[in-house]
Amino acid sequence: MIQEKHIEDAIRDLFGNLKFTAEPSGLYDPLRYMMEIGGKRIRPRLCLIAYSLFKDTLSEEILSPAAAMEVFHSFTLIHDDIMDKADVRRGVPTVYRKWDENTAILSGDVMSIESYKLLAKAPASVMKEALDLFSTTAAQVCEGQQYDMDFEDMQSVPMEDYLKMIGLKTAVLIACSAKMGALIGGASERECELLYRYGYNLGLAFQIADDWLDTYGDPAVFGKAIGGDIVNNKKTWLLTRAFEKAGDMRDELMGAMSIPVLSEEHKAAKIEAVKGIYDVLNIGEEAKQEITMLHGQALGYVSELGLAPGAEAVLKNYATKLIGRNK
Ligand code: IPE
Ligand code: IPE
Ligand code: MG
Ligand code: MG
Ligand code: MG
Repeated sequence: MIQEKHIEDAIRDLFGNLKFTAEPSGLYDPLRYMMEIGGKRIRPRLCLIAYSLFKDTLSEEILSPAAAMEVFHSFTLIHDDIMDKADVRRGVPTVYRKWDENTAILSGDVMSIESYKLLAKAPASVMKEALDLFSTTAAQVCEGQQYDMDFEDMQSVPMEDYLKMIGLKTAVLIACSAKMGALIGGASERECELLYRYGYNLGLAFQIADDWLDTYGDPAVFGKAIGGDIVNNKKTWLLTRAFEKAGDMRDELMGAMSIPVLSEEHKAAKIEAVKGIYDVLNIGEEAKQEITMLHGQALGYVSELGLAPGAEAVLKNYATKLIGRNK
């Protein structure tokens, strides 16, 4: 069993040593920018943790595929920020704002290819399964992103559709990261599947927490602007649940959602109005309960793995830190 501290050191070294030195700089500078600022790196961390349940040392066979998860994720953020018209990410200007949209599109494209190059360092014995898992996941993320955009034009969506959408745009990559670590570590099919489900449920909880933070977070800590989801008419957990519960407040909610967003003042008014309704309906608290429920489900899959207490504790710690986040 590899110590948690050792995994943290490995993550630091991995991204410290990962240099993209190719030219032209117009293509690779944004990629270097995203990787150097760095995010929370939850996906490679989970990949290494899952691997560590089955192996005693970390080597190239897992470090590069773990990095692939983060490079792919960072690519999706570059394109996501164009789609969501977001100005700030990880506390700094988004790629399309710092450069321009064309740059963000092409740098994102090459970044997705870089992630495949890293994944291709997985051991030959599991290469086909690793590639299938990764490609299926990558396509699912695009599907989720399309649903997310389609939903912007709808007044509300059923909770079931919301959960399917976040399952695709967010949970599958977290699930894939866990399963990839297990697969390369030599886990059985059943163990791989249980770790996938653990990651998937955590991924749902993670996106609901992201939705919560987008309304209630502290921008200085969160690293993104607050209220963007409301301005963009995003179908978040908060809005979806608010429509379920609205009752007599339905017209008021629809009115708040249709406040025009032509100026910064308008945007602030829309955010305030929608947030006011969430508060009356107790939506923020309910979101936290939902996150706790999904956290419990994720831990249920961990129990089924039948691990030694130390190993089980690592997965529990990871889950608890993930959902307790404020950024
Ligand atoms: C942001 O992911 C996109 C979502 C799936 C919510 P993270 O919150 O993992 O972003 P970084 O990598 O830490 O910046
Ligand atoms: C993120 O959803 C999903 C992907 C990037 C695939 P969001 O649009 O909510 O993520 P943030 O809030 O911009 O990080
Ligand atoms: Mg988005
Ligand atoms: Mg976004
Ligand atoms: Mg978000």
